[in-house]
Amino acid sequence: MPSPLARPLIPTFLLALLAACAPQEPAAEAPADANQEKTVRDVHSFARPDEVAVRHLTLDLTVDFEAKQLVGRASLDLDRRSDAQALYLDTRELDIRAVTLDDGVETTFTLGEDQGLLGRELKIDLGADTQTVHVDYASSPSAAAVQWLEPTQTAGGEHPFLFTQSQAILARTWVPCQDTPGVRMTYDATVKVPSELLAVMSAENPTERSADGVYSFRMPQAIPSYLLALAVGDLEFRAMEGVTGVYAEPSVVEAAAYEFAETHQMMGAVEELYGPYRWGRYDILVLPPSFPFGGMENPRLTFATPTILAGDRSLVALIAHELAHSWSGNLVTNATWDDFWLNEGFTVYLERRIMEAVYDPAYVDMLSQLGLQDLRSTLGEVSPRDSHLHLDLTGRDPDDGMTDVAYEKGHFFLLTLEKAVGRERFDAFLTSWFEAKAFQSQTTADFMAYLEANLIQGDAALAEKVNVDAWVFGSGLPETLPPVRSARFEAVNAQLKGWAAGEILTADLATDAWTTHEWLHFLRGLPKGTEDARLAELDERFKLSATGNSEVLHAWLHHVIESRYEDGYPALRDFLTRQGRRKFLKPLYERMASHADLKPMAVDIYTGARPGYHSVSSNTIDAILDYTP
Ligand code: BES
Ligand code: ZN
Repeated sequence: MPSPLARPLIPTFLLALLAACAPQEPAAEAPADANQEKTVRDVHSFARPDEVAVRHLTLDLTVDFEAKQLVGRASLDLDRRSDAQALYLDTRELDIRAVTLDDGVETTFTLGEDQGLLGRELKIDLGADTQTVHVDYASSPSAAAVQWLEPTQTAGGEHPFLFTQSQAILARTWVPCQDTPGVRMTYDATVKVPSELLAVMSAENPTERSADGVYSFRMPQAIPSYLLALAVGDLEFRAMEGVTGVYAEPSVVEAAAYEFAETHQMMGAVEELYGPYRWGRYDILVLPPSFPFGGMENPRLTFATPTILAGDRSLVALIAHELAHSWSGNLVTNATWDDFWLNEGFTVYLERRIMEAVYDPAYVDMLSQLGLQDLRSTLGEVSPRDSHLHLDLTGRDPDDGMTDVAYEKGHFFLLTLEKAVGRERFDAFLTSWFEAKAFQSQTTADFMAYLEANLIQGDAALAEKVNVDAWVFGSGLPETLPPVRSARFEAVNAQLKGWAAGEILTADLATDAWTTHEWLHFLRGLPKGTEDARLAELDERFKLSATGNSEVLHAWLHHVIESRYEDGYPALRDFLTRQGRRKFLKPLYERMASHADLKPMAVDIYTGARPGYHSVSSNTIDAILDYTP
């Protein structure tokens, strides 16, 4: 992929140096637009926010389910920050029909060459005083952010459904915008949908259907483009405690309200730790099963997979995670995708603090232990440079940076800092970071400077104890990581060992007190290639192939594959067909593809399932299976 940026740039190291030398801002409230004062190079965007920055977006869209298109107008209010006479936007697969300025004067525009994932640069010529640009456009039926679902792909089976997934650089496939996390804007929207459907966005939302299918939205807090989101379907709303609530299809909404009833307590916990929730309401939208992620932190309205509806609230750490993004990510945002760990590593750390406050430390020890297992296995797979917290994704898909390195190594870095300075100091430090940098985008260098000025403060012993550089710019897992243990997993280990050695019979495994996470640990620890007859025993006693817990099923299906446990194949096929969460699909297809005897089955399952997947998932699986549609 060629670099989209032809103009000369300030080298990153210079920016880092400048940031490191800049005087520290006071911890007081910073203006909401302070991020606009500096601009960071984003190799994944054509935008030039240092010249002209988009401050507000007004969307006026019609959702056409027949044509699978969003058609309408995006009006962009501009901050002219230089004498540049052009606005550069990101677009991908958009049909740009007309561009007008202010009160309707047509202007000229040029669409650059198609650069694959980056799409096409849209250069709009501005008048000397232009304040607003109107772009009339339509999205493509194949827009990568948008999934158009047939009624059969929904729980109700009667109405079509639509949802978007903008992170990381897919917003440009449905809105012409400065598609970089370094730019923030407020937005308003008017969206027209078939009158039997409800529309919701990452904004203030309706709770009831309108008679004419027209909905108005307002997002008064400035957000980056990757948090633009829209969903349309047969949705119902249920209020939960405080400012929390759920949206889901009618047949799912009750189960969702039960599963997520503790969201309000989570909110209380995180507010007590890190300061007030700044976004008004916090609702959760449960999507149809093809949603490619577990969750997406769209502000005011987290998008979530239905695969966390386990019935026993055992998978709600994901809600804690998405809620935590309201501080780490949505309030203080990674400036570029190279700084992704500032979003995700912080969020995993916050997620575990929330879970500790709402549940107990033993629960979090299990989450951390599983996270560390994931991290170790990821570190064994990625190249050394991809194991740094600070990434260099130039010329690559930002998706490549979406590994456990950002999430878990990021988390363990913050945990290491916490253990080194103590909770009290570390909590105060993080709270001040969110406060000082609220509504701004930050680079890794910005964080390093803030860390030095406000926590390390020249303390050489502390610096040595943590070794910040090893975490941020080094590969692998630094030795300064404090021990991570789980007593509950140690008890599971004893069972595992006895069972594997034949000393504990399947009938005598002491599993009664196990929660989902103990099962996950047990299944992960089960020797690879365990005889299929022994898997049959486990399946017989614990009904694993039939479990309604998606995480447990996923862990089990790895053994079904490795041991060629054929009685489990129907469950494998069914799981891969009825949901499209990439985190589950990718490892299972990878495993099948790595065995010549199973690859044909993988391709067969995929051929049937692929039409139901979101492009985020099918792009990944196409590559794994060398599949050409
Ligand atoms: N923001 C991410 C999802 C994401 C990351 C989408 C990068 C596109 C590009 C979200 O907060 C997330 O991390 N989701 C996780 C769940 C979490 C509990 C680790 C997921 O979907 O698995
Ligand atoms: Zn996240």
